[in-house]
Amino acid sequence: MVRAAAMTKRKKIALIGAGNIGGELAAQISRMELGDVVLFDIPAKENFAKGKALDLEQDQALSGRDSSVIGSGNWADCAGADVLIITAGIPRKPGQDREDLIASNLPIIRDVADNAKKHCPDALAIIVSNPLDVMVYEFKRRTGWPKQRVVGMAGMLDSARFELFLAREAGVSVKDVRAMVLGGHGDSMVPILSACTIHGVKATEFVAKDKLDAIIARTRKGGGEIVGLMGTSAYYTPATAAVQMTEAYLRDQKRMVACAAYLEGEYGLKDMYMGAPVVLGAGGVEKVIEVELSPEEKEMLAKSAKAVQGVMDIVNKMS
Ligand code: APR
Repeated sequence: MVRAAAMTKRKKIALIGAGNIGGELAAQISRMELGDVVLFDIPAKENFAKGKALDLEQDQALSGRDSSVIGSGNWADCAGADVLIITAGIPRKPGQDREDLIASNLPIIRDVADNAKKHCPDALAIIVSNPLDVMVYEFKRRTGWPKQRVVGMAGMLDSARFELFLAREAGVSVKDVRAMVLGGHGDSMVPILSACTIHGVKATEFVAKDKLDAIIARTRKGGGEIVGLMGTSAYYTPATAAVQMTEAYLRDQKRMVACAAYLEGEYGLKDMYMGAPVVLGAGGVEKVIEVELSPEEKEMLAKSAKAVQGVMDIVNKMS
């Protein structure tokens, strides 16, 4: 008789929203075999989700990978998920700010939070829907989940944009560039120049001030640049960032990355979500790291916090 060795059960990752980012998430996660995937969408898009899932599962078969990808319009299929990645919502159209999405996306995040609480009470929730900082806050408020298990994807994406522009300007590999972008996920985001290095050497030694200023300006508008070109928002890089966050959690990598984290006094900010460096591991958001900021950076962060607070005030009135 052949006995199966005691195996760890495959992880379950539920993707809430089977649109552009959801589809790319499903593709990356299944190729990495991070776990079984449920690609969930509203009833009107259920067959669309099922079709994408079937295509991806056939891709798995072609490549000899066993984890499953199913499409669904039923929350019960997401039950017991280890990770939820939430992209449910409407993306931006040209000319729109992320804040213009509040009216459409607030009821959606509330619906998702209520179902997540009911069906996936132990999951780590990674929120991607915009306006990001406020959507994460609302998800945490509505579920009452601990801050370690509710996190927003934005800082890694903004940092990657900054790193790319810097690498191209300096004529070096992106592999050697490290940047950190903090604050709200909007035009007031704060690139931390002191933490921005090319293999440990300050970026300011490679790139002139006017060029750096132009890179910062382009990073701040990085999402809008793509919306302007494509007519909808970016999806490959947002997906990659959320997958890296998922991997850090499931494989306890203790990665230090920029994410939207719940602040309780760090950076002088309380009871709000904003981009900050965190350690992501098996405990979820295990730590929020406070880095030394220059007076100028502090001022920019305060301004960014004010912008996020302004959106939160609008949301609180919509309760
Ligand atoms: N539950 C589940 N899915 C939902 C819900 C809901 N209540 N409401 C809407 N959706 C689904 C839509 O049916 C759609 O398939 O969310 C999906 C969103 O997919 P896209 O329109 O392709 O948007 P995408 O580019 O993936 O961006 C999603 O992430 O970056 C942000 O600004 C972006 O808020 C947007 C979100």
